[in-house]
Amino acid sequence: MAAVLAGLGGALPAGVVTNDDLCATLDSTDEWIRTRTGIGERRRVAPGQSTRDLAAEAGARALKSAGRGAVDAVVVATTSADRLCPAVAPEVAHQLGLGPVPAYDLTSACSGFLYGLAAAAGHIASGVAESVLFIGAEAFTTMVNPADRGTAPIFGDGAGAVVLRRGTPDEPGAVGPFDLGSDGSLADLLAIPAGGARQRSATGGPRGDGVPAEDWYLRMEGRPLYVQAVARMTASARAVLDRAGWAVSDVDVFAGHQANVRIVRAVAEELELPDDRVAVNIDRVGNTLAASVPLLLADAAVRGRLNPGDRVLLSAFGAGLSWGSTVLRWPDIPVEEVR
Ligand code: COA
Repeated sequence: MAAVLAGLGGALPAGVVTNDDLCATLDSTDEWIRTRTGIGERRRVAPGQSTRDLAAEAGARALKSAGRGAVDAVVVATTSADRLCPAVAPEVAHQLGLGPVPAYDLTSACSGFLYGLAAAAGHIASGVAESVLFIGAEAFTTMVNPADRGTAPIFGDGAGAVVLRRGTPDEPGAVGPFDLGSDGSLADLLAIPAGGARQRSATGGPRGDGVPAEDWYLRMEGRPLYVQAVARMTASARAVLDRAGWAVSDVDVFAGHQANVRIVRAVAEELELPDDRVAVNIDRVGNTLAASVPLLLADAAVRGRLNPGDRVLLSAFGAGLSWGSTVLRWPDIPVEEVR
């Protein structure tokens, strides 16, 4: 038995923010952002729009792509949930009219799509569900300090969703094996210090008396993260290829988490994967955390970069630290352009 990819859909908020838009208030330039990150523009939620809205839109498209009106479970990977409590997934299930199915969120930042895919596949393998709607959704620009030039250019909002169904390991679309890992000793390299239980217990409540304003936003140490990202994604990709019995030369498309185009290209170089096998969409969406890989897959499929039968390597890295990889052969499914 295996979990098989049966549908894919994405959603992006309408608001486009170009590098020049950002640089109107930020000490940076379009040239710096493009050359150091590969990002030209990103999307930002409209006032009042949130992760749940993007998740529901992407989820509806994935269900349509799979030709299904029902699933047995809904999982949402997000690090920008609408509220600290409750999870987004039950509201998404309700909004999509999916009934009283099991629904929960998981938080694994930029590796959320790989962790969630493994969790959803596990639900199918264990018999908890025969089909799962799994969504990576983020309104993470709300977590980023607009005055911090080290992070403000990098992140964007969006959602990507897949439907997984029970099938067999030899079918196109069967996901796995997986490689997942973490290193909590480096948790502080990418963190939002305030808002959680640690800050509340230290300051005596949620108001944050004495908490510096920047602590409510993401704090990131870019250089050491860059080094970790390349090393961890490369090792994880190698491990999963090994487990799958694939050579690097078997990989038709490398769909790596879009944190920085230089990171993706460096991983490909380490693996000795030619440039034309590397999918990229960061130029138009930035780093959308858990939504990054499914938005990338949708983009590649729509552009004809990813075709039925292609052997695909997925790999991601993010806060935690955490990372993960998997492989699949691309199935013949309809995918709509994400605008
Ligand atoms: N515009 C102009 N200059 C900037 C800038 C910006 N937006 N951001 C930083 N700089 C400056 C720095 O202040 C520094 O100046 P200095 O040399 O005078 O100190 C210089 O540019 C180089 O900064 P550095 O941080 O070393 O740049 P970098 O090449 O490492 O690129 C990142 C920065 C953040 C793009 C890069 O480190 C990165 O992508 N890291 C990984 C991030 C990541 O993966 N995060 C999420 C995990 S999924």
